Amino acid sequence: MKVLGIETSCDETSAAVVRDGCSILSNQVSSSLHFHRRYGGVVPEIASRMQLETIVAVTDAALAQARCSLTDIQLISVTEGPGLLGSLLVGIAFAKAVGSSRGIPVIGVNHIHSHLYANFLGVSTALPQFPLVALIVSGGHTSLFYLRDFGHIQVLGQTQDDAAGEAFDKVAKLLGLGYPGGPAIERVSRKGNSRAVGFRCSGTVQPLDFSFSGIKTAVLYHVQAQRRRHTFLPRMVADTAASFQDTVITVLVGKALAACALKKVKTLVVGGGVAANAALRQRTIKAAAAAGIRAYFPPKALCMDNAAMVAGFGYQRFYGSTCTGPGKGGRDAN
Ligand code: KG4
Ligand code: ZN
Repeated sequence: MKVLGIETSCDETSAAVVRDGCSILSNQVSSSLHFHRRYGGVVPEIASRMQLETIVAVTDAALAQARCSLTDIQLISVTEGPGLLGSLLVGIAFAKAVGSSRGIPVIGVNHIHSHLYANFLGVSTALPQFPLVALIVSGGHTSLFYLRDFGHIQVLGQTQDDAAGEAFDKVAKLLGLGYPGGPAIERVSRKGNSRAVGFRCSGTVQPLDFSFSGIKTAVLYHVQAQRRRHTFLPRMVADTAASFQDTVITVLVGKALAACALKKVKTLVVGGGVAANAALRQRTIKAAAAAGIRAYFPPKALCMDNAAMVAGFGYQRFYGSTCTGPGKGGRDAN
């Protein structure tokens, strides 16, 4: 079964062909990032206009890369939300138009759930075992889920204000590191001392919820105070970035493992753009192993928004099964 995936929830236009819910035959991603940089964040109007201009070419490229045509496609899976409304509209309208003109069924899937499905793509051995806890950390969302299986997804906690990726982006902006902030913070943090500044994240009423807006303000006050006293040297930027990153990771790892303990599960899957962060990956895998839990991360490219995860998850939703054979193009077990 070949599924065409379409993803247009934020600034990417992506199309992919995935076979049997696991083998990635193609995964084309075109980003309008370059046009948003000068504004320090995604401008929804620019994103949706670029998606309108590129979606046909991106889909053609995905079909060509998979060496197939629309006649080989049995299902179209499209991100139906959450995301930027204008952007979602482009993907959904396109998917419905192609589906109805070719008689191909169309399924709309949840973007956040697709991120966690990235852990089930291209896996020939050691699929994550249910029940499991999923931590999704992206630019728009920070959520903890409990999954008995794909039919039963329970929210255990979510951010009460900024998402983790959003905090990375905002802190990078005020440190003058540009957009997107996550990779920039990760890069400069390698040269910094993560114990230099004592940041902490605000508490939450529900222990498995998250709050990242307080730490962003704390970084702002810290930078302002440093600037009043002396010039804010590159070393101070690195120390501030490293301390911020370390604090956010401590909270993410702590709450993910607390969720596993609460639900008595031995499998943790992580997804979303922030899951590309090497320090988060290393610390999660190490802390999880110490607690007897196996942690899974998708390859970095599949952490970011992409249509392969949408095609894979659409297959799962439509046919009710996950992987029917050895996959290709995804991760190996960590
Ligand atoms: O999942 P994603 O591609 O889009 C959304 O669904 O939001 O995530 C994008 C987010 C951005 O906030 C970006 O700064 C963050 O992921 N990100 C990272 C890293 N790479 C991307 N955050 C921390 N470290 C990274 N290496
Ligand atoms: Zn995303």
